[in-house]
Amino acid sequence: MRTRRNLPILCSLCALLAATVAAAPLRPTHAPHGIVTSVHELASRAGVEMLQSGGNAVDAAVATGFALAVVHPQAGNLGGGGFLLLRNATGKTHFIDFREKAPAAATENMYLDAQGNVLPDSNPLSSVVGYRSIGVPGSVAGLVYAEKNYGKLSLQKVIAPAIKLARDGFALAYEDAQDLKRDKYLAESPESKRIFQRGGNYYHPGELFKQPELARTLERIAKDPGDFYHGAMARELAAAIHRGGGLVTAADLAAYEVKEREPVRGTYRGYDIISAPPPSSGGVALVEILNILEGFDLAKLGNRSADAIHLEAEAFRRAFDDRAEFMGDPDFAKVPVAQLIDKKYAAAWRDSIELNHASASKDLKRPAFAELERVAQSRSVAIREPENTTHYSVVDAEGNAVSVTTTLNDSFGSRVTAEGMGFLLNDEMDDFTAKQGVPNVYGLIQGPANSIEPGKRPLSAMTPTIVLKNGTLFLVLGSPGGPTIITTVANVLIGVVDFSLDIQEAVNAPRFHHQWLPDEILVEDRLSPDTMNGLRSKGHKLTVRHFWGDGECIMVDPKTGERLAGSDGRNNGKAVGY
Ligand code: DON
Repeated sequence: MRTRRNLPILCSLCALLAATVAAAPLRPTHAPHGIVTSVHELASRAGVEMLQSGGNAVDAAVATGFALAVVHPQAGNLGGGGFLLLRNATGKTHFIDFREKAPAAATENMYLDAQGNVLPDSNPLSSVVGYRSIGVPGSVAGLVYAEKNYGKLSLQKVIAPAIKLARDGFALAYEDAQDLKRDKYLAESPESKRIFQRGGNYYHPGELFKQPELARTLERIAKDPGDFYHGAMARELAAAIHRGGGLVTAADLAAYEVKEREPVRGTYRGYDIISAPPPSSGGVALVEILNILEGFDLAKLGNRSADAIHLEAEAFRRAFDDRAEFMGDPDFAKVPVAQLIDKKYAAAWRDSIELNHASASKDLKRPAFAELERVAQSRSVAIREPENTTHYSVVDAEGNAVSVTTTLNDSFGSRVTAEGMGFLLNDEMDDFTAKQGVPNVYGLIQGPANSIEPGKRPLSAMTPTIVLKNGTLFLVLGSPGGPTIITTVANVLIGVVDFSLDIQEAVNAPRFHHQWLPDEILVEDRLSPDTMNGLRSKGHKLTVRHFWGDGECIMVDPKTGERLAGSDGRNNGKAVGY
């Protein structure tokens, strides 16, 4: 009797334990053959399941991507976009751009009122929440394209784990139940409130979360992926968006195309860097940062010393100044990539860094160089929380590597769920310049190259990156975090290369970030008070935050070939290998 009465309590305790994830690991996860690391253990497992049934890194990445759309609705998605960087064991690289596009009816001033002010001048902005913030989603096209062109298994096979997770449900972790409950705007979409907040009767940690509409949508994609852009699904999606006052039409969906682009390449202290080209600013900014820093002996200054952070922050500041000025969709604007990643240009920027004094962003003078011209902009802004995007990395037994960052932009995107289809839609339109000189949701200031135009892709900071040592696969890197993505990837890379950290230590190490404006270094609160004071005494303003980002990174041990993953304890990251 006693046991029986206690059963429900016991059950919910078990469920709670099952949903509890171990604290941040201090040592890397080791695997002899293949490994997947992502923000959610079930998504990593979905990927490894593919590796163990004869699939390659692309099969694993696609399975993980679809699974994340189920288990991580904050950012995993069908209704968003992203970038996939693949490096085959043969050394061939492919960069798959499945970033969202502005709908045909979008106009440069669509978020401005008659006076030219950002509209409405209140929270939430229409570029952030609701139907008008939605860009034409690219994720389904991107994952299907990757699978078809570079995977070994069938689409049905790689989507199967996601369908099962959606249909049978999965236990919600504490943090995920909190995110679903606490989001300020999810309840504004009746369909989102019904599905993700159970109509206001919120999910508890450990409860099973089932998504039957999403399971059905995934089944339809598995059966006929073209239907999402050209058939009944496209018509249903467009009709739902139209009813809500959004701009994306069936014709926009039909016109969506995935693009393969040449990745950005650079070198840093003898390592080869392969990263995201425009319409991401990530790879260009990362290479520029590393080029500037190559002229300093960071190792001698010491990991997380005030002297080293000062120099890194100064490099970040300069690369973000260039980002604001020059970056946008290369199909619409000329982006001077070659100049920006030129080592001579970096050397000129380096000369403007004082070893012991912070520069002032407003006084920064861009070195005169080739075609680069300066258009002064200044505006001080604050970064807003919460943010969400997600990154996952895969290395398979053959040495094929995949690095994917995907996003709805904001956490839960536009908060709009496509009626009857069970998935959230992005608010990627906010990554465009709504008005030059006025910050977006991440406090980023953007230039004319990133103005809204029909069919254009908004500028991104997503930075899926692969690093080679002596021409051999060494690191697979990436993180969410809006503008902090770029500096998080730099933090992890420099941690390994300059400070000899292992991949887990490099992911764990306290992060810091500078994005030109606002003129401040953002630091995680675990950075030592002495270091913070050292930075202040050099004239830096510091803003302290608990933590950000989610580095899901892999290192291949150059000696043993072992796969070592660093998953991020800041969230519920989990690497799974075999
Ligand atoms: O593409 C971008 O740069 C942004 N939409 C990413 C947003 C983001 O990473 C929010 N994350 N935590």
